[in-house]
Amino acid sequence: MSEEIRIGVFVCDCGTNIAGVVDVPQLVEYAKGLDHVVFADEGRWSCSVDYLVRMKESIQEQRLNRVVISACTPRTHEPLFKRTAKEAGVNPYLLEFVSIREQVSWVHMKEPEIATEKAKDLIKMGVAKAALLEEGQEIRLPVKTDCLIIGGGMAGMNAALSVADQGFNTIIVEKEPRLGGILNELCFISHDNHKTPAAKVVQAKADLVRANPNIKVYTDTQIETVKGYIGNYKVSLKKNGNDSTEDLDISTVIVATGMQELEPEGQFEYGNDPRVITQLQLDRRLRDKQVGDVKNVVMISCVNSKNETRGCCNIGCHTSVKNAVALKYLNKDASVHMLYRDMSLIKEEGHAQQTAKGLGVKFLRFPDDRYPEVVNQNGQLIVKVYDFLVGREFEIPADLLVLTTAFKGNDTVEQTKGHLKVSTNPDGFFQESHVKLGPLEFATDGVSLAGCAKAPMTFKESSEEGIGAAMRVSIPMKNGYIEAEGIVADIDLADCNQCGLCSQRCPYSAIIVDEEKNPEVVKALCKGCGLCAADCPQECIGIVHYSDDQVFAQVEAALEEDAEKKIIAFVCHWCALGGVDMAGVSRLQYPSNARLIRVMCSARVSMKMMQRPFELGAAGVLVAGCEFPTCHYITGNYAAEKRVNRTKRKIAKAGFDPEKLWNLWCSAADGPKFANCMRTMVKDLGLE
Ligand code: FES
Repeated sequence: MSEEIRIGVFVCDCGTNIAGVVDVPQLVEYAKGLDHVVFADEGRWSCSVDYLVRMKESIQEQRLNRVVISACTPRTHEPLFKRTAKEAGVNPYLLEFVSIREQVSWVHMKEPEIATEKAKDLIKMGVAKAALLEEGQEIRLPVKTDCLIIGGGMAGMNAALSVADQGFNTIIVEKEPRLGGILNELCFISHDNHKTPAAKVVQAKADLVRANPNIKVYTDTQIETVKGYIGNYKVSLKKNGNDSTEDLDISTVIVATGMQELEPEGQFEYGNDPRVITQLQLDRRLRDKQVGDVKNVVMISCVNSKNETRGCCNIGCHTSVKNAVALKYLNKDASVHMLYRDMSLIKEEGHAQQTAKGLGVKFLRFPDDRYPEVVNQNGQLIVKVYDFLVGREFEIPADLLVLTTAFKGNDTVEQTKGHLKVSTNPDGFFQESHVKLGPLEFATDGVSLAGCAKAPMTFKESSEEGIGAAMRVSIPMKNGYIEAEGIVADIDLADCNQCGLCSQRCPYSAIIVDEEKNPEVVKALCKGCGLCAADCPQECIGIVHYSDDQVFAQVEAALEEDAEKKIIAFVCHWCALGGVDMAGVSRLQYPSNARLIRVMCSARVSMKMMQRPFELGAAGVLVAGCEFPTCHYITGNYAAEKRVNRTKRKIAKAGFDPEKLWNLWCSAADGPKFANCMRTMVKDLGLE
């Protein structure tokens, strides 16, 4: 026999923050009349230590097995109340949070009665969901201590040393015959004023790596296959020119595959005239001291960068100044002209520019829309440039024309991307999961990235990133496990038609397909975004705490009365709810028609979820998520936007007005954007 559902509703006054607008005693009485509610109480400050003790006692005395907190915002206070529920013996996944401060009392301050009615609806929705909640639990996956580093450049070597120094087994796989990566091509390291040849730096670092007993180095070797996930990777290596493979068990991976120059395609006579070379080619000549007799050198910056398709290449100014100084050191009589659009240098690099000027390097600045021209006059290359600081054109002879061109990820990027199921950006570099929330990490747990595999960077930056990436993968290796929240996907195989869509769509590679084509959720990797569930054509994927039934129960509870005046707003827990909260904190007043339903990501909102409110007579539906390109689940908002557009076509066929389905993408600071959206929506839907 199933256990009787006994829900307790705790309504907070928040001093006068809530009770100053909303009639809290009325809410408590209202809650007592709802199905399954056996207890309701008003707390002056529900998050105070005293009240939490009282809450625990009430849970135990009343034998509550579901808890609804009606208070401020789950974004700040949910963990506290979950902990309290757990301490009182209730599984924390059986707690639902209703926000009646940020969503009600702070944004409808001048309409206390309307605010109280809205708060009643929100509590009713919370109770309806709570009745359907199921227990959940955090999930752990064991992680051992073997780290694979793909790429033996400076970032890879530094990462290896940092990982190995913590006692972890470290394996470097380098496709070239020697360690060092692109550094092997360079003349000097610039930050020490050209005192140290790059070869010396590589040698010193490689010696440290080779001497470390925890590091094993495979050079001239490529990754053949990678299978598995954090803590459980099976990696197969293949020596270049050799058919035999070696298999390794690996727990974590660092991608440090480096970059390569994006060669100009015929611009400035590159490829037609051997005197036109790139900065990297000049670096090699400087390294080999092959510039002794060159007389006139001209450099042109921003070739293939800072245009419609690519941004700043990050290191072009740095590299050209470094090479100009190196050239003058080797050949003080050479005339060097540097033609640039903007000079983007950090502090020490600015000093290098002063050194260059002191050595006689001439800097000429050309306008963005007037690049220099190169002509061949009787065998002599002449560079024509308009210097807008001087206000006239110059004609400069060039025996060597050096193009400072952009970079792209190296030629193994596509292969590595396929092996590890990670993302790249349009410039051919690997894409970290989130610049603020997941720097140096991929969305795939246990896989980190460093150095020029991510973007062009200097020696110093690349070295530091190697250490950063090492720290990222060391956390689960040190802990011995990773732990995921219990909000995860669950597939009912009885209804699954083995289409494999869920596995393809999962941004975290958390759904694997077995030999019989059955999908399986690796729960420790699942982040609970709900994208798979919303897209599953068989509707056989549930998300703990955000199941279809629970969401529909909220929709139905919200629309039981006066549906035609109400808007159902699905908001993601992160930026969209952040925007809602910010509107509240800022006391922005907006119409009270919306009833908010929280989902972890806008990607969770299925087509059915968008259509159901219309079937029940709602005035409108809003799907709100994080502003592009940031979604806390990588690309959930993109998936949601596409789905909203598909749903518009679908509901139009079903006879509903597609113009009543809206979406909103906002940042967590976008309180005004959310409030304005509410005002506009209410006006456009004729609800004023
Ligand atoms: Fe906000 Fe995905 S988390 S839209």
